[in-house]
Formats: sequence, C-alpha cells, structure tokens
Amino acid sequence: MWTKCWNASKNCRLVASQHIADAACSVLLTRDPVTKARNARQIAEAWRLGNISHTDLSDTHPPDRPSRPAKPELLPPGQMPRRRLGSVHGRQALLHAIAHIELNAIDLAFDMLARFNGDIPVRDRHEFVSDWISVGDDEARHFMMIQNRLLEMDSHYSALPAHDGLWEAAEATSDDVLARLAIAPLVLEARGLDVTPGMIRNLTSVADHASASLLQTIYDEEIGHVAIGAKWLKKLATAKGKDPAECFRHYVSERFKGTLKEPFNHDARELAGLERHFYTNIIH
Ligand SMILES: [Fe+2]
Ligand SMILES: [Fe+2]
Repeated sequence: MWTKCWNASKNCRLVASQHIADAACSVLLTRDPVTKARNARQIAEAWRLGNISHTDLSDTHPPDRPSRPAKPELLPPGQMPRRRLGSVHGRQALLHAIAHIELNAIDLAFDMLARFNGDIPVRDRHEFVSDWISVGDDEARHFMMIQNRLLEMDSHYSALPAHDGLWEAAEATSDDVLARLAIAPLVLEARGLDVTPGMIRNLTSVADHASASLLQTIYDEEIGHVAIGAKWLKKLATAKGKDPAECFRHYVSERFKGTLKEPFNHDARELAGLERHFYTNIIH
C-alpha cells in the first residue's frame, strides 16, 4: 500500500506503508534488546506519521516467542538472587530485573498488535493500534532509561540472570485477546503499581535519587498502561455481551498460575479504571 506523507521539510512525497502486523513482528523478531527498543520507537514514529496501515487484514503470524539474546540466562522465578538495596550490587540487581520487565513489556505491546489487531472491529482498530503502539513506545523508552542507568552504575542489561514468568503468561493467553488483556496489563502491570512506590521509597532511603526518579517516571506512565488495558477489556467484553469484571475474574481464575498478591495500591488501580470489584475476592 502507498500513502502520502509530509516529511519534516514539508515536501510531499509517496512512501510505502507497512502493515501494523508486519511492523509489530519486526520488533518481536529483533534479537538485540537495544536495537529492539530503537526499532519499537521508530515504528511508533512511523505510525504517528501515517506510514503504517491498519485497515486491511494481514496473513502475518507473530512468533510464539520473541527473539532474545543468548544472555541473560533465564531462571525459574524462585531461584532469582535476593536484592539488598544498601549495596550497589543490590541496586544493579533491582534495575536489571526492571530492565527485563520493560524488555518483555515491549514485546507484549507489539505482540498485542501483531496477534490481535485483526480481532478488533475495523471502526475501533485505529484507536487500538494508537493505544498499544504508544504503550510499546513508552516501554522502549523505559528500557533505555534503565539500561542507561545500569551503564552509569558499571553494569548493563544481560549482566545478571532473569526469569521468564512474563512470557509464560503471554503464552498462556495467546489465543484470546480478552485473556491477554486480563492477565498482561490488568494482573501483571497492575502488580507493578502495587510494588513500585515501595521500591521508590527504598531507593530514596539509600540516597539513590537518580534511580528513584526513573522509577517515579515509569510508575506515573504505567498507570496509563493499566488504564489502556482496562479500557479495552471493558470495551471488548461489553461488545461480546459479557460483564467486564466477571470476564476479568473468569480469565484470572482460568489462566493465571499465581494468586493476586496484597497489599493492592487501590488508589492507582482506581485511577486506571481497575475498580476493586474486579480483583478482590477472586477464587483460584
Ligand atoms: Fe514500562
Ligand atoms: Fe507498561
């Protein structure tokens, strides 16, 4: 497909436009994390410039697992080393774990686009792509913020082991957009809202204000990601004649391996449109 595009010098020219599924797959298939983050940000910019199409359907299928480098080694969640933030090694380990979450979050946002854009009614698809591409753009920026902070602290992403829990959750929800929305943004990202304020306090208490400030930025923006997840779960469940809260509770019971851990950050969840009756008293 060809579209008209205005470039920075205001010259009108024709450029080839890529389908969103193909563009999203190119992120998933990028192995090097920094290149993946840069690719994600370039695709978000191409979308904003109108150079990516979304209306027709695509035959592209996303990979079961995104491409990843040989390192970090992936360990079961229970075998991850404990972190003590008083030492630089403890803070490197915390930031490394966050970088790994952000890298997974890039892939989760672009997998949402590659895997599920065709399930969205055409009238809603532009909004769906805009929302999830903005999430993917944020996640790529978050990854680079943390990677750069690790470099300042004489470390880097892949220097330590990481765990594979996030992509296991993605694989458990690869057949159903409602299941994916329930588990990825509304369980896993919402959990980030619960635990990040405590990490910011702990980093501040050991005077690592630079890392605390990055986590504050991430926290503020993650409220928006949970809000996008809540909006689409409500919209798509309602369109199918389902009650959104019951739909969420059904998928958490059926697809989420763990239990929802308290204490919850009710204020941040409420701000994101994830009301208490969605997530309290779920029976596993
Ligand atoms: Fe993030
Ligand atoms: Fe996020």
